[in-house]
Amino acid sequence: MTARELVTRAKNLPPVSYAALKLVSLLDQSSVSNEEVVQVLKCDNVLTAKLLRACNSPYFGLAEPVSSVDQAVFLLGHQQILHIVLTLAFGSAMVVPLSGYAVEANELWRHSLITATAAEAVVNEFNDLNVEPSVAFTVGLLHDIGKLVLNQVLTPDLQAAIREKIEQEKMARVEAETLVVGTDHSDVGACLLQEWHLPDDIVEAVAHHHAPVLKPRPRISVVTHLANCLAHLAGSAPGWDGYAIRVDDAVVEKFKITGDQLDTLVITVRDSFEKVEQFMNMG
Ligand SMILES: [Fe+2]
Ligand SMILES: [Fe+2]
Repeated sequence: MTARELVTRAKNLPPVSYAALKLVSLLDQSSVSNEEVVQVLKCDNVLTAKLLRACNSPYFGLAEPVSSVDQAVFLLGHQQILHIVLTLAFGSAMVVPLSGYAVEANELWRHSLITATAAEAVVNEFNDLNVEPSVAFTVGLLHDIGKLVLNQVLTPDLQAAIREKIEQEKMARVEAETLVVGTDHSDVGACLLQEWHLPDDIVEAVAHHHAPVLKPRPRISVVTHLANCLAHLAGSAPGWDGYAIRVDDAVVEKFKITGDQLDTLVITVRDSFEKVEQFMNMG
């Protein structure tokens, strides 16, 4: 089966807010103004209500209650607002039980959030990658979204066949998926994002997160790849990924990455993720 056929078959994926997708498209532009962010958010009442609730939580400790999107953007800045909105919007689409991947209802989501946190750490560490932190955060959130599609459309037999190859033959997940289905979760995820009309750079970052593109110049998939590896090193391996994910040799060579550097990044990611978890548990 092709990635497109699989995405076409996935009819019951949880809906994602149009406003959230529009915001991701805006990220592709060199600069997004506060006004543009406010304008897009105002089109989605549900998302706006969730955003205001989040901004008024004790986590942000704001002195005055926030009662409008304009005020929220003014007080917290649009970068922070974007992160909250994308987390809220994609979280409600991704927190579903993934039986085929044997994960808890929110394990993929937790892995996506930690990868998003790691992606920001990666662009701060390797600034010659020249990727905006908000774009990095977004591609981290979305990198494994193809698993939602595979989980929904693959029969239990096919899912068991993939699992057997990973667990018994110690095959990498993407290889096992390709052998059994003919495509893998990174291609399927990229195809879904294309259907959502997301920018090409964001599609690329998801399509190649297990095989990052370095030539003719490093693409954003280097960020998703490194972030996914860091998430695994920080202890987040969704489902039965029975093999150790490691950083691609060509990426290590190109960016002269040392073991100490990775260790330090893992600590940064763990610390930052603790804050993200506090935010998620604000209730
Ligand atoms: Fe993946
Ligand atoms: Fe992943």
